[in-house]
Formats: sequence, C-alpha cells, structure tokens
Amino acid sequence: MSTATAPASSTAHADALRALEARYGTPWSAPLPAWNETLDSLLAHRSVRNYADRPLPEGTLETLIAAAQSASTSSNLQTWSVVAIEDPERKARLAALAANQSQVREAPLFLVWLADLSRLEAAGQRTDTSIEGLHYLETLVVGMIDAALAAQNAVVALESLGMSAVYIGAIRNRPEQVAAELGLPPRVMPVFGMCVGYPDETRPAAIKPRLPQPVVLHREQYNVPSQVGEIAQYDEVTRAFQTSQGQSAAGWTARSLARWRSAESLHGRDRLRDALNALGFELR
Ligand SMILES: Cc1cc2nc3c(=O)[nH]c(=O)nc-3n(C[C@H](O)[C@H](O)[C@H](O)COP(=O)(O)O)c2cc1C
Repeated sequence: MSTATAPASSTAHADALRALEARYGTPWSAPLPAWNETLDSLLAHRSVRNYADRPLPEGTLETLIAAAQSASTSSNLQTWSVVAIEDPERKARLAALAANQSQVREAPLFLVWLADLSRLEAAGQRTDTSIEGLHYLETLVVGMIDAALAAQNAVVALESLGMSAVYIGAIRNRPEQVAAELGLPPRVMPVFGMCVGYPDETRPAAIKPRLPQPVVLHREQYNVPSQVGEIAQYDEVTRAFQTSQGQSAAGWTARSLARWRSAESLHGRDRLRDALNALGFELR
C-alpha cells in the first residue's frame, strides 16, 4: 500500500495542488489532509488514443484482469466477462463496427467488457433451478455496473504501470455484430470496449478539466440553483482547453447537448433496446 504524506509539510503539497488545478482548470482552495501516489495516478488520468509501437510485457493482461476481478461485485455474482483481442484483423473489424475509430486498430490490446448473465443461466439449467430474475432489467443493470467497476479497476492498474487506455462506447453502435464477431452466447452484452497500450510520447494527451465540484457534490440534499453559474464558468474553462487542443471552442454545454440532440446523434444506440432483445435480454 502506498503511504499517505501530509502535503502541507513537503513538496507533495505543490504536486498535489498542481494535480488538482489541472483536473479542474481552476485554483484549488480546500484543505489537503493527505496525498499519495495513488491520488497522483488517479488525478493524472487522461484518455490516450495514440500508442507507442511497443508491445505489452508478457503477463500484463493477466495482471490487469486480477485487478479487475478485485473490484466489488454485486452479491459476488461476478456477472461480467471480458474478451481480449490482439489479432489485427479482428481489431480492424471491431474498429469498423465502432465508428471506424483508428485507436481500436492501433492499440496493441483491445478489451471488450461484457455484462454476462450466461454463466449463471447455464448453472440454473444444469441444476434445474428457476432463474426468473435473469429476465429483469435490474439484472442486466447489475451486470453493467459489475463490468464498469471491473474495467475501471483495470484502467487504474494499467495507468499505475505507465500504460494508457481509452474506453470505446461506440462498441454499442452495433451490438449484434459485435456479439457475432466475438462469438458471444445469448444474454451477454458488450458494454464498452477499451484500447490499451503505452502512450505515444510524441503525441501526448492532455488532462481534461472536469465540472467544478459544487455541480456534482451535493451536501445533505441535491442543490439545483448553484449549478448554473458554475457550469457557465466551466464552459469558459472548457473553451480554453478546447482551444489549447486545436479543437473548436464550443464549451462543455454545447458539445454535450449535441450528443443528445436527436435519435440520430446516438449513432445507432437509439435502438439499443431492440439490440438487447435480439441478444436475449427480455428487460422486463
Ligand atoms: C463508457 C465510456 C465510453 C467512451 N467511449 C469513447 C469512444 O467511443 N471513443 C473515444 O475516443 N472516447 C471514448 N470515451 C472517452 C471519453 O470521451 C473521455 O473519458 C472523456 O472525454 C474525458 O476525457 P479523459 O478520459 O481524457 O479525462 C469513453 C469514455 C467512457 C467512460
């Protein structure tokens, strides 16, 4: 376990402040009772879409999966699985299914994280046990939560080892085709993909500032009014960030609302319910 240092008494204080200010793009004012390498690593997260031409050391995948399996899992049901893809042709086919995102082709390792109800379904059949609960939306939600917690543990682990990743939600654009490509049995849903590799240091990714804490952190009760002004400030921070990255300075609000403008802006995911039905989820 990494040790906590009291940042006020050391250079850790300056490092911690730098990390927090990079995360929000604004000065940090709350006290810092403690800091450590885990926080350094978490605060330094950035999605990486450009990878070095460097293979992952043998055993990396198994280590990451051990970290993933160490995440909490609802009732220890462990309703998730993951498919690891290294074959260039399969990665290319999956990239084509995921909005042609080049990072899926270029990452040395592509992981598809799955909500997996098939294992317990098979156990129910083997033991002639009723599994009516399998057919409810709640059960799929459990599988999706389990998959997300496991995946994020893997991200934390790989970033701590100097690797990088980016999630690929576009794997849900065409779930049936992804399921066919991966040979998934019924009642297994591809939740998201994840590109893994060493970052290309010649094309570094930047830390993307997040919403101010008062927008997401509510004390005792949810606070609607305080959000509007804070979001306006965040739009300014985001515009500056977008400009620094050579992107159009749309700000967070406009960029985010564009994702919800219409059914078409969901890029095929507007028919997710039908796709899930086709994959064997009744969603009662
Ligand atoms: C579930 C999920 C799906 C995502 N899907 C994609 C994707 O398909 N393509 C992509 O380039 N980034 C994708 N991302 C990355 C987000 O765009 C990124 O995390 C967000 O903009 C914040 O940036 P940061 O991770 O660098 O801090 C996804 C992230 C999550 C959590």
